[in-house]
Amino acid sequence: MDSQDVYDDLEEVLYTADQIQARVDELAADIDRDYADKDVLIVGVLKGAVMVMADLSRALTSHITMDWMAVSSYGSGTKSSGVVRILKDLDADLMNRHVLIVEDIIDSGLTLSWLKANLESRGPASVEICTLLRKPEAAKVSIDVKYVGYDIPNKFVVGYGLDFAEKYRNLDCIGILAPHVYE
Ligand code: PRP
Repeated sequence: MDSQDVYDDLEEVLYTADQIQARVDELAADIDRDYADKDVLIVGVLKGAVMVMADLSRALTSHITMDWMAVSSYGSGTKSSGVVRILKDLDADLMNRHVLIVEDIIDSGLTLSWLKANLESRGPASVEICTLLRKPEAAKVSIDVKYVGYDIPNKFVVGYGLDFAEKYRNLDCIGILAPHVYE
């Protein structure tokens, strides 16, 4: 699905499919360089990170292993509590591993802050974060992120894995959702 298919639903296209691919390739080059002499386990956080995991992993030139987690905000359904529930845990043992968490977006930072601490408690050699998008204005906690694709405005964005009510994940670009869709 491309932006023309959902033309009326988007206020603006922030990044085209080509721009995203180019930026993901740059992130992969940075990761290749930084982990040149290390085995890295990349951990995708379902569901939003599926697209960036697929493209990032294929852009890497060295061997990696991949694993997945699914998490959800506990209780109220809002993310602001920062209390996270694991819906699907990793298959891999993290002891002495170099772990790179891959996310589509960091909004408040609460999910990743919790997740990083959780993975760090499992005895890994290192835990770093790569996110395609980050909203600096929405940050509720400060979180050290090694790889960031783009810092974006505090708007409702969809596409390339990001959803509204489970839709738009298969949109090939990233766009700002028009308010009439969700208001
Ligand atoms: C999104 C995103 C992060 C989280 C970021 O996931 O993938 O995991 O929200 O928000 P935060 O910084 O405010 O904690 P979401 O809960 O929407 O699930 P999804 O990936 O399945 O769409």
